[in-house]
Amino acid sequence: MTGSMARIITLHQPRRLEIGENAAARLGDWAADFSRIFVLATPHTAGFVGKLGLKGTVSLFDAIPGEPDIATFEAALEAARKARPDLVIGLGGGSVLDVAKLVAALWDGEQTLFDVAGPNKVAGRRTALAQVATTAGTGSEAGIRSLITDPEKGNKIAVESPYLIADIAILDPVLTYTVPPAVTAATGIDAMAHCVEAFTNIKAHPVIDGYARMGIDLVGRYLARAVRDGADTEAREGMMLASFYGGICLGPVNTAAGHALAYPLGTRLSLPHGLANAIIFPHVLAYNQPVASAKTAEIVAALGLDARAKDEGLLKAACGFCADLGVEMRLSAHKAREDQLSGFAEEAHAIRRLMDNNPRDMSVADVRAIYQAAY
Ligand SMILES: [Fe+2]
Repeated sequence: MTGSMARIITLHQPRRLEIGENAAARLGDWAADFSRIFVLATPHTAGFVGKLGLKGTVSLFDAIPGEPDIATFEAALEAARKARPDLVIGLGGGSVLDVAKLVAALWDGEQTLFDVAGPNKVAGRRTALAQVATTAGTGSEAGIRSLITDPEKGNKIAVESPYLIADIAILDPVLTYTVPPAVTAATGIDAMAHCVEAFTNIKAHPVIDGYARMGIDLVGRYLARAVRDGADTEAREGMMLASFYGGICLGPVNTAAGHALAYPLGTRLSLPHGLANAIIFPHVLAYNQPVASAKTAEIVAALGLDARAKDEGLLKAACGFCADLGVEMRLSAHKAREDQLSGFAEEAHAIRRLMDNNPRDMSVADVRAIYQAAY
């Protein structure tokens, strides 16, 4: 079925998109008719509220950490219930945007987070939702999924619903100028991984392949530039678009083994999502190469790695791509112990919703070998 148009897919996208330098200022006009505005942010991104040109009553909740857990979500929900918003604005990276989706849908209803876990469980949404991205990586602003960490179970609660789509999304490169080089690199590779894993996916679809190609191409052209010079507007804008396209890829196709193998690194080693994916990305690309050779060749070309891959082999070339961006690629340097790798492998192998999307089957031993190679 790979590549066939015969499969029906559903594509959700924000109703309106504003892209470009200082696009954030356009939110004020769009939001002019709303009277109670609730902004979700981090202590850092809260500093951008003044750029949104908002009128009306604005309440701010800025206590969202890197990886949002249930307690963070509950606190944000509580604050929203006091503010009684008619518009919720997510102003931040994927964590903030994911929480904003759920707060907008759930603050005035009866459903709990556990009620809505899984696909299509959210009953509806009465509150408008604006998503303003301040990083280029997750593409959360483009989509209908939200991931909240359950610290007790050590896994993620995944909510997916058309009611989580934004009424307006804003991609303003100026808001990403201050993202540090290391985070720019890791999150940029994550955006690329969304495109690559959808592109080589068992459920790949020609429509999504188009977005994936555009995203990978933008990463090849702009990621190194954005890492080198954070205020390179063109490069930053290119990466925001790559991230948005990656977000579209996540909808109807989603990721595969790369993200499955990255998850234990996030939950067990507390590595940021982007970094975990950057470490794993080259290994899964190389592992899948024999069954996805034409598409892998396209990826390699788009990233400018042709000559290097011929010289050093695909794995080394792709690891070099990430390392050249400043990513520390060895798990041992991120406090992993060798005796943890088998446990990680069992755990990643069990994430069937993603592993089953991979074009080449992976046994627990295969997964363990990848962690070992990355160690
Ligand atoms: Fe990701």
